[in-house]
Parts: sequence; structure tokens; C-alpha cells
Amino acid sequence: MDRKCFLAANWKMNGSLKTNKELVLNIKEQITKLTNNKIDLIVCPPDVYLEQVKNLLDKDIEYIKLGTQNVSFEPNGAFTGQTSLDMLKDFDISAVIIGHSERRQFNNETDLDIAKKVYSVLKLDDHIMPILCVGETLAERESGETQNIIRNQITKVLDFLKEKNILDNQKIMQRLVVAYEPIWAIGTGKVATAEKANEVNRFIRELIQKISLELSDKVRIIYGGSVKSNNALDLISQPDIDGFLVGGASLNATEFVKIYSHMCN
Ligand code: PGA
Repeated sequence: MDRKCFLAANWKMNGSLKTNKELVLNIKEQITKLTNNKIDLIVCPPDVYLEQVKNLLDKDIEYIKLGTQNVSFEPNGAFTGQTSLDMLKDFDISAVIIGHSERRQFNNETDLDIAKKVYSVLKLDDHIMPILCVGETLAERESGETQNIIRNQITKVLDFLKEKNILDNQKIMQRLVVAYEPIWAIGTGKVATAEKANEVNRFIRELIQKISLELSDKVRIIYGGSVKSNNALDLISQPDIDGFLVGGASLNATEFVKIYSHMCN
């Protein structure tokens, strides 16, 4: 496979000016020793800290890129509390997490909202990558609904992109990254076994294959949910897991860099 590995840190609603500085400087220091340009490495702080983290990354922004945890699909206007893509672009972002289960759950984001967000990022003539998150609850997994849930979440987005006439555009579509994040594994310490995670990632690749074989070969499909340095190697060794979206473990520089070092060796 010639897909570039992808590792994104989702800081969620954590951090402060002080702890962000320590974290970023520690990551930079440890990573320069093992810089591996085979990996797209992204940190996604809360929006209020974008400027701080951008400044801390400084020239290293070439190999540690900046991302965000959300975006509005509206371009501007009377949308209190929202942040537009143009605003985020002022900070040279490279990726946006879209449709994280915490946003689906606590902010009532619908599949249509998520499809619109993915489209708003992809339609830009730019390099920004949308990281589309999908995943099932424990009850859904236990009742054998995993594939139906995932199929539904992915299809809603792909259908919308088709309606907007960009689904056939390989160059645009290859910027898409899909993150399989089983909800029962997020922040719980219960990681999906490498085989189970790979099974769903493969299923997602097969869904994309129905659109284009070439695209399914190029799109990065990553895994998220209690990824740690002690399970990363096992997970990344699977053929359909192209990287990770890491929450808790990304707040600890040593742990995060260990995950990085396990990738794509
Ligand atoms: P976790 O979070 O690594 O803390 O489980 C992953 C995520 O929510 O993206």
C-alpha cells in the first residue's frame, strides 16, 4: 500500500496556555529525533489556542500540522459561537475533525450537518483534509448493527457529495480521511481488538470501492478509541488501518510520541 500514515491528536476541551506550551515543546523535542515524513502528523487543539499552538510549532509546522475539532458549514454571518472555515484558514490549518461522536451526541449534529461540513472543506481549492468520524455504540455492536450503522453514516456523506458533483473528482476526494471510532472504545480504555477494528475499516474501504477502486486504495481510513503506546503497534500492523485519531494519550507527549514511533516503521 502506498497510503501515507496519518496520526491526529484530538485534545478535545483540554489544555491551558501553560500546559499547551509544555506539551507542544515536548512533542517537538522528542519528534525531531525521529522525524518520519511518511506520516501526516496533526495536532487539533481547541480553537482558542490555534494561534498559540501555531506560534509554538513555528517552522516545524511543516511536519507537525495544525488541525481543528470542528467547523461551521456556513461561510459567515449570524451564527453565534460558530467558527467558519475561512477563519480557521487564517491559522494555516491542514485538517478538520468532523462528526466526532461527542459532537453528534452533545451538539445534536445530524448526518446532514456532517455531510455539509465535509463538503464545505472538500469544495475548497485547498489542501485541508476533513477527518470524517463514524462509529457505533456498544448496544448497536451487541445487536449486530455495526455494519448498518457505519454504512448509513458513510452513505449519507457520500450521497451528499454525489449530489454536489464532487464524488467523481479523485483529486478532491483523496483528501478525505475516515476515522472509525467505536463509541464504546472512546475514552473508556476498552480498545477494539486489532482484528475487529480492521474488519470495520475494511468494510469502510469496500463501501468506497463501490464508488471507485482507485479511490478506495488512496483514502486513508484510520482508527480511534483508547489508542495507546501499548496497542498502537498491533493496530497499525493491520492492512486497513492507516493511522489513528488519539484523544487521551495525545495529552502526554511521551505517550503520543511512542505511538508515533510505532507507526510505519
Ligand atoms: P480516546 O479518544 O483516545 O481518548 O479514546 C479518541 C477520540 O475521541 O478521538
